[in-house]
Amino acid sequence: MGDGSDDDPFYTLLGDHADFVDKLTELEATLDEMIATREAREANRIILDESIRFFEDELLPVLAAEDETILPPLEAAIGRYGTLVNVVAYEHDEIRRGVEKFKAARRDLEAHPSWAAIQETNRHGIFLVQFLWDHFRKERTSLFPTARERLPETELESIRTRFAH
Ligand SMILES: [Fe+2]
Repeated sequence: MGDGSDDDPFYTLLGDHADFVDKLTELEATLDEMIATREAREANRIILDESIRFFEDELLPVLAAEDETILPPLEAAIGRYGTLVNVVAYEHDEIRRGVEKFKAARRDLEAHPSWAAIQETNRHGIFLVQFLWDHFRKERTSLFPTARERLPETELESIRTRFAH
């Protein structure tokens, strides 16, 4: 097999990341609006809940699939410590913690709506938006190119199959 973009093992995953960035942009806009209006209107709350659904149903399973399918063979090829493998594994854990904090802030906002609760929801939400944006960029520009170069074709085929949809 060649390495043209049409059979790039990361083609589908890169498309998913691009869709995720669109979701994050929508979340960022609603957080900005809440900060500007100092209110969590129904339309804002719907987007916060949709973001949580997106994190749980779409984002976290993709992180788990990356952990299972990409990182172990890459660790075998380039090692873990002092490499991108460790950086990406650490960032996945940081994202999981961030999602939990965002969910907790959202619950507090529902239970006790206040300016402080809006600010706390914004703080955790903006952290996720910025951290994920940087994380996807790092994978696109460093992790995936290294994997394309260093992984055997059998592993690349597993990645292609795992992320196909
Ligand atoms: Fe990732």
